[in-house]
Amino acid sequence: MKGRSLISASELSRAEYEGLFQAASNVRRSQALSGKIVALAFFEPSTRTYLSFETAAERCGASVIGFQSETSTSVAKGENLGDTIRMLSSYADLIVMRHKLDGAAKFASAISKVPVVNAGDGKHEHPTQSIVDLYSVWRKFGSIDGLTYGLLGDLKYSRTVNSLLRALDKFSPRKVCLVSPPQLRTRQEILDGLRLNWEEVSDVWEILSDLDVLYVTRIQRERFPDELEYAKVRNSYRVDLKMVEAMKWSSVIMHPLPRVSEIDRKVDKDRRAYYFQQASYGVEVRMALLLGILGE
Ligand code: CP
Repeated sequence: MKGRSLISASELSRAEYEGLFQAASNVRRSQALSGKIVALAFFEPSTRTYLSFETAAERCGASVIGFQSETSTSVAKGENLGDTIRMLSSYADLIVMRHKLDGAAKFASAISKVPVVNAGDGKHEHPTQSIVDLYSVWRKFGSIDGLTYGLLGDLKYSRTVNSLLRALDKFSPRKVCLVSPPQLRTRQEILDGLRLNWEEVSDVWEILSDLDVLYVTRIQRERFPDELEYAKVRNSYRVDLKMVEAMKWSSVIMHPLPRVSEIDRKVDKDRRAYYFQQASYGVEVRMALLLGILGE
């Protein structure tokens, strides 16, 4: 990982994922990155990704600079992305970047003198989320292989799902079931690149009892070109206790968060609700990643 950018979940090998899982599970607070500066360049809102990267950097001894909104930068005065990245790469040793445009992180990595980590670019990818997701599965089941996954929700605009599919493709899941409203099916360009065993399912009830992992996503309202199209699908699925009771006792419900209304809050107390634990793993995973890229 040393000195590398991370733009897509497909760039990591299975061995690199497994190395990150081991590193994350053993990582401890240290001053290993003392003297390093991590720039958090978030042109779009974030709670978990921004704050877990900030926490991770500080727990590794690095300093953090950055912003959480482009309105607080000179982009608001008309400065372009390229010039902004040029400046950040002269201040920091690593840029962690979130942007509303697909491909923005790749563009930045071509300009930057320092590695760029994609913290979400439009509807394209969110590769550090998929490391957190797979790490959470690995912590629960000891393996990514041989499990049955159900991905439920907005599979068209969800960048976490794109990255998760590309990350799962490095492993051998038993099956990945894709469940979404017809308007929000996984984009063909994502499916075309996959080797894993996937199938589209129209009704989540058909698969609930088979699943080891139910991965739910929010409808990505901010990506819809037309608010009326969003209104047609906004309440099209909701995980409730009745559904959870149909799942295996050993299964888990995951979600990259934020949640809106797609998981009933009553589910939070069920032993299968794993999404807050999943989010909390973000710090140790991002510590392992920062140490891998910036460490000696
Ligand atoms: N999962 C995720 O990216 O959450 P935030 O948008 O809060 O960073």
